[in-house]
Amino acid sequence: MTWSTSLVFLLFWASPLVYSWNPFSSNKRSGIDGNQQVEGGSPLRRDTTGYNFDPNGTAFVWLPEDTYAGSTFFDGFTFFTDHDPTDGMVTFVDQATAQQKGYISTQPDGTVIMKADDTNTLDLGTFRESVRIQSNKQYTTGLFILDLNRAPWGCAIWPAFWTVGDNWPANGEIDILEGVHDNEHNQITWHTAPGCMLNSNATFSGTIAVISDGNHTNCDASLDGNAGCAVIDWSRASYGPFFESQGGGVLAMKWDENDISVCE
Ligand SMILES: *[C@@H]1O[C@H](CO)[C@@H](O)[C@H](O)[C@H]1NC(C)=O
Ligand SMILES: *[C@@H]1O[C@H](CO)[C@@H](O)[C@H](O)[C@H]1NC(C)=O
Ligand SMILES: *[C@@H]1O[C@H](CO)[C@@H](O)[C@H](O)[C@H]1NC(C)=O
Repeated sequence: MTWSTSLVFLLFWASPLVYSWNPFSSNKRSGIDGNQQVEGGSPLRRDTTGYNFDPNGTAFVWLPEDTYAGSTFFDGFTFFTDHDPTDGMVTFVDQATAQQKGYISTQPDGTVIMKADDTNTLDLGTFRESVRIQSNKQYTTGLFILDLNRAPWGCAIWPAFWTVGDNWPANGEIDILEGVHDNEHNQITWHTAPGCMLNSNATFSGTIAVISDGNHTNCDASLDGNAGCAVIDWSRASYGPFFESQGGGVLAMKWDENDISVCE
């Protein structure tokens, strides 16, 4: 695959919450054998715990490539300030505005906060200020990990973490975290060009999103109002009040020659 993708974060709407983000991506190191040392890690054991395998049977481990965290977190991202492509009632502000109004900050312990305007009561129909950022770097496979302390939830609140290529939908979109209004389950969604199907026999803990006549396994973005194909996580710890009450969680998306997997 030659297409590449960026990491995107978005917070719609307001919420009296703080959010912390520590996304991380990694690249794999092929041809690992049982005697090799991994930088910064302990010697690998000879069993297969922690190994992944390429389709040709070669073992590999994932190694850190980029870490976005702490006071330099926002350096790797560009602030999106266009009209919201999905027509939400939101105004995305630039970095200087976000900083000045306190929508983004870093705590002394390194926790990154990114939030919407959560102090102003707005007149009906007025757009709320929020923040949407996109990674400057693009990736052509990888293991992407997001360590999130809190994510806002509630009616009209829509936090998201996803990957998207330059040429949508041909280069694909993978929605790793998407909070939809009062949902108490995360929904993982793929939006693609024609020809990609979600295999309902794949292993997952959750249910395939159903549209009118059954499981919607066709990921083609041109169908059914860009519904895409989706798996709704079985666990309420994946998003919403339970996610928040347990102190957040870690979400991971793996994209390589074998498949695309999401885990949380
Ligand atoms: C197996 O596939 C991986 C990934 O495509 C490649 O890097 C590696 O060289 C291959 N190994 C062999 C023995 O062909
Ligand atoms: C899923 O498994 C069933 C039963 O083995 C099989 O008939 C069907 O073709 C499989 N579907 C896919 C998309 O692989
Ligand atoms: C629809 O998806 C569910 C999993 O969400 C699966 O258990 C069921 O067998 C699927 N139904 C059909 C007709 O493929």
